[in-house]
Amino acid sequence: MDLQGRIALVTGSRRGVGQLVAEHLLARGATVVGFARGEATIDHPAYRHYQVDVADAAMVQRAFGAIARDVGPVAIVINNAAVLTSQYAMIMPPSAAQEMLNVNLLGPFLVSREAAKMMRRLRWGRIVNIGSMAASLEPIGDSIYAATKAGVATLANVLAKELGPLGVTCNTLAVTAIDSDMLAQLPRDKVAAIIDRLPVPRFAAADDILNVIDFLLSERSGYITAQTIWLGGVN
Ligand SMILES: NC(=O)c1ccc[n+]([C@@H]2O[C@H](COP(=O)([O-])OP(=O)(O)OC[C@H]3O[C@@H](n4cnc5c(N)ncnc54)[C@H](OP(=O)(O)O)[C@@H]3O)[C@@H](O)[C@H]2O)c1
Repeated sequence: MDLQGRIALVTGSRRGVGQLVAEHLLARGATVVGFARGEATIDHPAYRHYQVDVADAAMVQRAFGAIARDVGPVAIVINNAAVLTSQYAMIMPPSAAQEMLNVNLLGPFLVSREAAKMMRRLRWGRIVNIGSMAASLEPIGDSIYAATKAGVATLANVLAKELGPLGVTCNTLAVTAIDSDMLAQLPRDKVAAIIDRLPVPRFAAADDILNVIDFLLSERSGYITAQTIWLGGVN
């Protein structure tokens, strides 16, 4: 798949899944804009990094102004940035719950609506929200996290209706466990117990994720929208 000439925005591009996807899209020829709170970790001539907190509406708006001026209209969004605090509800700090809501759910909304204004002019767009198996498996400790991940799928489904007539598809890729800083926060035995019960009982590999990204971004997938694709047989 050739993404030459397309501008793709990947949130949370500094580490983990976001970095993986950003580097993949660069290899496919896209110009990639990355958002994260920290500094760039990708060094590539077609990569532009913006230090943006996706939960901050004013910051997101300002960044889109700069992108419009300095890069061009965004045609692809991968809403990947998220935070996780896994804790029993009774002892979950409200500030941590609030941060998950802000970053994981409000963030994709803020980014998608700014990008949609650009996609409307292109009459073409692809929005992919990175969901999680947690939305379906509902693990203990993940009440808010799982709810935000169910929320991003709902968000994509509604945006699919609003943006479908404009040539924009909106889907969710619900990933299973893959090695990253986020996964390292969880007890290994808790993750192993979840993975052992999956229909395909193994961690996600990079290519499991990139395969679905390629499918959803493809020119041929213009009729695929409002879908959640679950890795590993989760449903
Ligand atoms: N890893 C897994 O096993 C797993 C399983 C299921 C779903 N997922 C999902 O996959 C996605 C990526 O997870 P990951 O494991 O790669 O996470 P990660 O290693 O913790 O990386 C998170 C990325 O998001 C950025 N970020 C965090 N808060 C942000 C904010 N407020 N504004 C902008 N950027 C922010 C981080 O950069 P800064 O800190 O510099 O901002 C970092 O680049 C998430 O949506 C996660 O829910 C992961």
